[in-house]
Amino acid sequence: MKKLIFTLIFFVGLSLPIHSNQNVEEIIKGRKAMFSENYQNAKKISILLKSKRIEEAKPVMEKISTNYKKLLNYFPENTKEGFNTEALPSIWENKDEFNALMQKASDDMMKLAKTVDTVEDFRKIQKELMWNNCSSCHNRFRAPH
Ligand code: HEC
Repeated sequence: MKKLIFTLIFFVGLSLPIHSNQNVEEIIKGRKAMFSENYQNAKKISILLKSKRIEEAKPVMEKISTNYKKLLNYFPENTKEGFNTEALPSIWENKDEFNALMQKASDDMMKLAKTVDTVEDFRKIQKELMWNNCSSCHNRFRAPH
């Protein structure tokens, strides 16, 4: 029985680091994929609004908002480096500020979806509620690329 327990502990110990490393890879690649998807969708929104296809643009805005909310959980302490991450250490030094920016970016996309019907200048509102959030976060929290 004792032998069995020791064997178990040995194998669990052996598999833990491997498992957590896989997990880090999944998380970093996962967040990169979500940011890329958001970028594609933001460009899609610009094109749709240019041709006044407002109703089609709304669900895309909501999708970006949802991705931002999910992204709040994609920056645990053990994902500061590796797998070509461009995330800067400043994220973990200012986690509250980073999370607040992510939440604001998410809220602004919902605001955009709600107000876009009443808007005259699509370019201006997209800048205010969409593109500005990208740059204000990247300036502080993403490595130059
Ligand atoms: C609250 C912060 C924040 C906001 C808001 C934000 N980003 Fe980012 N973005 C990041 C961080 C951090 C990374 C680096 C992630 C990594 O490499 O692990 C990143 C990476 C990216 C990448 C590269 C993904 C890859 O494959 O490496 C793209 C593209 C991108 N963002 C586009 C955008 C666009 C477009 C917007 C706005 C519509 C936006 N981001 C809004 C923080 C943000």
